[in-house]
Amino acid sequence: MKQNAPSTVSIADIANYENQEIQITGWLYNLRSKGKIHFLQLRDGTGRIQGVAVQGECDSATFETIGNLKMEASVLVCGRVRKDVRAPSGYELTVSRLTVVQNPQEDFPIAKKEHGIDFLLENRHLWLRSSLPIALLRVRHEAIASLRNFYYNRGFVLIDTPILTGSIGESAGTLFEVPYFDMGNAYLAQTGQLYLEAACMAFGKVFNFGPTFRAEKSKTRRHLTEFWMLEAEVAYLDNEGNLQLQEDMICALVEDILSRCQEELKTLGRDVEKLKDITPPFPRLDYGDAVRWLQGQGSGIEWGSDLGAEEETVLADRYDKPVFVVNYPKKAKAFYMKENPDNPQTVLCADLLAPEGYGEIIGGSQREDDHDKLLSRIREEKLPEETYTWYLELRRFGSVPHSGFGIGLERTVTWLCGIHHIREAIPFPRTISRLYP
Ligand code: 4AD
Ligand code: MG
Repeated sequence: MKQNAPSTVSIADIANYENQEIQITGWLYNLRSKGKIHFLQLRDGTGRIQGVAVQGECDSATFETIGNLKMEASVLVCGRVRKDVRAPSGYELTVSRLTVVQNPQEDFPIAKKEHGIDFLLENRHLWLRSSLPIALLRVRHEAIASLRNFYYNRGFVLIDTPILTGSIGESAGTLFEVPYFDMGNAYLAQTGQLYLEAACMAFGKVFNFGPTFRAEKSKTRRHLTEFWMLEAEVAYLDNEGNLQLQEDMICALVEDILSRCQEELKTLGRDVEKLKDITPPFPRLDYGDAVRWLQGQGSGIEWGSDLGAEEETVLADRYDKPVFVVNYPKKAKAFYMKENPDNPQTVLCADLLAPEGYGEIIGGSQREDDHDKLLSRIREEKLPEETYTWYLELRRFGSVPHSGFGIGLERTVTWLCGIHHIREAIPFPRTISRLYP
């Protein structure tokens, strides 16, 4: 006979139901049995709690059923909420009745024992249920909310830029091409920047937040082929104002994560003291000075080349907060960056390097707003001129100084969480060697 179920509550809200009969809808992630007692480790997506089923005290069919449950069985569990100071959540559930939704016929592939990273990635669809991925992806979720709020509160307008594009945004070397009807090939967006430049002339302050694509042939702990980027673009903003905006954003983000993700950071073993050091102002380091310093340390880097991961790491190690490396050589950076009037060999730009060896998390610049200079850069780089007609027109109709940047979400989350590799900072990573699951 069907009995009435008590109301379903989230484990996260369990404290509000002390001594009440409630129902949890979730999964069994571990089971330990000792004579007449089953200890059920339960998870519902909002939290974890231990259920205790005692023979003779709970429904007798329930007691028997529990003994046959496999790990990751989906279950509806009714019971009374009891305060328990020893429990991590502070509460325990005294089980009265359990209904099985589905009991697996086989062992869950991800057992307690240590698995290699390749196995875990191959089973990412199941690995997602483990405590570390859950903590990490919750931090990611909070980071997204924090960043969106930051811009909303400052009056920026969200502009969703296209993913299918006709012009190269960054470099020809990392384009994904897609056949596009009778128009040849489209490219998956490497950046939405060029479109944001158009939009900032309409709205003043704009941002986007979406997936971007780079056919990165490099296999590093910092590269994905599909990653999420937030980009901001502001009319009448110079390079220095651009750095200020980035600094404000990073400080607000770190503050939000420290206050909203205490449990998650603890689960991840993150040294939060390191994050508490992230306060303004961030140091600014001229590219030329950085190269001289690196050469003094025995690096073979020559003036003119972009900084590699190795160089970024040693430079950032000199500081306990993020550092802006400013005014890179023109030839090392993208065509759209504005020439530095004080040294035309360089551009008004900055990369923000995260501390603790995480490298570049933001790339940004003031944009070339002079039509002829921009056109000659497009020609120098041998970019297909006709696809930039619209972009050049922005410089013919009320061109103004403007600046912007892009922050890579996964690199930032990797740093905030203190994990080694970027592939864990996105639900389903895409790399040169991974398209499954
Ligand atoms: O420095 P990038 O290439 O800059 C741009 O795309 C500009 N158009 C942004 C702008 O000014 N609006 O990329 C920006 C950031 C990097 O600092 C990094 O955090 C991230 O995007 N990024 C990657 N993250 C993961 N995997 C990759 N392959 C990445 N490439 C860039
Ligand atoms: Mg960059």
